[in-house]
Amino acid sequence: MTRDPSADSRIGAEDIRRRKGGVPIVCLTAYTYPVARLLDPHVDLLLVGDSVAMVLHGHATTLGASLEMMIAHGQAVMRGSAKACIVVDMPAGSYEDSPAQAAKSAGRIFEETGCQAVKLEGGVSMVAQIAAIVAEGIPVMGHIGLQPQSVEKDGGYKIKGRTEENIAALFRDAEAVEEAGAFSVVIEGTMEAVAAKLTRHISIPSIGIGASADCDGQILVIDDMVGMTVDRVPKFVKEYADLRSVVADAAARYAAEVRSRAFPGPDHVFTMASGKDET
Ligand code: KIV
Repeated sequence: MTRDPSADSRIGAEDIRRRKGGVPIVCLTAYTYPVARLLDPHVDLLLVGDSVAMVLHGHATTLGASLEMMIAHGQAVMRGSAKACIVVDMPAGSYEDSPAQAAKSAGRIFEETGCQAVKLEGGVSMVAQIAAIVAEGIPVMGHIGLQPQSVEKDGGYKIKGRTEENIAALFRDAEAVEEAGAFSVVIEGTMEAVAAKLTRHISIPSIGIGASADCDGQILVIDDMVGMTVDRVPKFVKEYADLRSVVADAAARYAAEVRSRAFPGPDHVFTMASGKDET
């Protein structure tokens, strides 16, 4: 690792770690430059999630994300933000095989995007990978509970923590991620009471999604949160806007005006009289 993350003026992974038990940490996903610019003043952390494969690229699952895709979107989000801690997801296939593979992929993401941290899915089974990345000086966010990269294996988006055995496994995963050196952990799709207990049990911040208001922070997929998602919207999402209607209405009005030749109007064309060369 040639970069010194402590030289960044942004919120860093250590700042996030220190927020355990304090004012809830505000997180959203972001994948593009303009959205990062809009969100940066309002959030503590932006995750360039591998959900980008579904949300922006139309894949059926997050397995459609590649290392190149994550790096390109990570670079765009870095360009569009100045303050937030930027975390980039490690896509499936880039880290599971070995600690060496994980460290190499994380190194590429970290160096080529300039992000503050990477995130990967898995608890006990990914301890060696997390430790290898942390040993390279790259902060890691864990991700336990419902793990979207495993939905095909799990037979769908299944809530975790409904049985005693499952709850015990979640606690083992949370402890493992913390002991491996992660600075925080996403807890996704678990029973509310279990997420609250997990949060009290570990000393790193928990970031909940479909989890509990008692988590140390919350995250949602940006397109879900603003009502842009055109396919399935999970139950745990609250839509704070209805951009589907805004975009559909604008497209319908534009189409009508093009067909009736009302657009472009006098304000949107160039004439010799206007005397301006710039658009
Ligand atoms: O990829 C993603 O958007 C995520 C969040 C749902 C936590 O991992």
